[in-house]
Amino acid sequence: MTTLLFTPRFIGPTRLSHRIVMAPLTRMRSSKGNLPNDLMRTYYSQRATEGGLLISEASPVSLTGYGFERAAGIYDESQIPGWKHITDAVHAKGGRMVLQLWHVGRQSARILQPFAPMETPGRSRGRYPTTRHARLIGMKFPGSSRITNRLPNAH
Ligand SMILES: Cc1cc2nc3c(=O)[nH]c(=O)nc-3n(C[C@H](O)[C@H](O)[C@H](O)COP(=O)(O)O)c2cc1C
Repeated sequence: MTTLLFTPRFIGPTRLSHRIVMAPLTRMRSSKGNLPNDLMRTYYSQRATEGGLLISEASPVSLTGYGFERAAGIYDESQIPGWKHITDAVHAKGGRMVLQLWHVGRQSARILQPFAPMETPGRSRGRYPTTRHARLIGMKFPGSSRITNRLPNAH
């Protein structure tokens, strides 16, 4: 058993040197604009090992997908450099990293999803974002895939 734990394994195209994987852990430490930052880079690089896999904390793919304040997002171009700094630091230590994508669904706190379609107990009619709302908050609504398609390759 111990022997197997320290043997290589491929996950898709990614070669791991061992099978100890860090589970995703939401830390809610992003900067204003839900930007990944230096504190997060330190956190992940401290946990990177040669050939080991880190699964990032869950990262919302849209402003309408929030369930936790200050979760670092991946719905806006401005968030890409922060994630890239993090993966660069992890790669520098020989580690591998994948980003966990997140949308919490329609049941959330309105303060976290001000423009999201809501379906909460006692309130069955949804509120849908208009293009004006989308423009107001700078969303590329509904094109979060435009961002996720451009993510740096994790391996
Ligand atoms: C503070 C905290 C944050 C977490 N954040 C995430 C997350 O972002 N994504 C996820 O899939 N699981 C998350 N989890 C679940 C952990 O990944 C999970 O606890 C871990 O895989 C261990 O599994 P177990 O609790 O079933 O033993 C979180 C757990 C904790 C305690």
